[in-house]
Amino acid sequence: MHNEEFYSSSSDLIIRLAEVPLLNQELDDHGDSSLKTHAKASAPAKVILLGEHFVVHGEPAIVLAIDRRAVVTAKARSDSKIFIDSEDLGISGFFIDDKFYHKKGSIKAKEKLEPIYVVAKEIIRKCRLKKGLDIKIKSSIPIAAGLGSSAAVSVASAAALCSLLGCDETDDDIFQIAFNAEKLIHGTPSGIDPAISTYGGILWYRKSEPIKRLNINVEIPLIIGNTGKQRSTGELVAKVNNLRRRYAPIIDKVINAGGEIVKRGLKALKDGDLKTLGELMNINHELLCALGVSCEELDNLVHAARKAGALGAKLTGAGGGGCMIALVSPEKIKDVADAITDAGGEPFITRKTDIGVIIEE
Ligand code: PMV
Repeated sequence: MHNEEFYSSSSDLIIRLAEVPLLNQELDDHGDSSLKTHAKASAPAKVILLGEHFVVHGEPAIVLAIDRRAVVTAKARSDSKIFIDSEDLGISGFFIDDKFYHKKGSIKAKEKLEPIYVVAKEIIRKCRLKKGLDIKIKSSIPIAAGLGSSAAVSVASAAALCSLLGCDETDDDIFQIAFNAEKLIHGTPSGIDPAISTYGGILWYRKSEPIKRLNINVEIPLIIGNTGKQRSTGELVAKVNNLRRRYAPIIDKVINAGGEIVKRGLKALKDGDLKTLGELMNINHELLCALGVSCEELDNLVHAARKAGALGAKLTGAGGGGCMIALVSPEKIKDVADAITDAGGEPFITRKTDIGVIIEE
């Protein structure tokens, strides 16, 4: 495969965060005078084109960054509290010595804000900050919908905080910090979500292999259909783990077949063969049904999209609700979008973005 670049510490993509001007040149413990007044960073959402869930079990997946972003603004506080505010979720609260005190929303806000707190604590430790932080999140990514919203927020938070504190972290470090936070909160994630939010573009992702960027020139025209039903990635990943434990010889074959789909999908993408890619997406969806992670709402949107002329359609992300994607030739876009609406979903057209995590201010 010649078109891919490996991410390694020599990759030019690593430079982005390291290039952020270091307003703070001191490496001593941070007092207030050496900090930027505020920093802002953003990171993209994603769709998994092929391979969700199989990727948790060691198979590859192909994932695209899309043009919806989470934006995080960070400021230092004069006390040692960590205040996190999510405008879209309508929740906020303080973390003081690992205890949570909600301000907006209920005590349940803790669960949603905790990954950001874990990221903040790690960066405070790395950058030896002696103060607290105000962290504000604003995002155009649907929440708990399979588009990687929580990873995008973690990645953008890590980048904003590093920029604020003048910490010289690379994109690889940002990925690792966000991935560690996900692991603490969600159990056994593959790492695909923080990877795509960090690096952008299209990635070939397989656990324990270097992350590979795919330089694919073909347009991948996708419509996303949101069922509007929220669900938990951690629970769905655990459900598949459970099924695999009980039916290992059967489920292993399904997972294996999933890996084969992704390999053929890569070839179809390189050949610009959207018809084959669509067929593979259809098979991928049926395998995910076999794993028990689809649901009636998703199946309805997938079948409606196929009937309206999509080249292929499948759930994307963890399933159980959230979003599906349809691969659609330009003349069918309106028909497929209308069919998704009629089947009870919210359609939106999406574009790939090559812009991973960036410092905005
Ligand atoms: O639904 P999302 O955006 O959290 O995506 C989950 C993707 C899985 O493959 C199901 C889990 C993982 O960690 O790879």
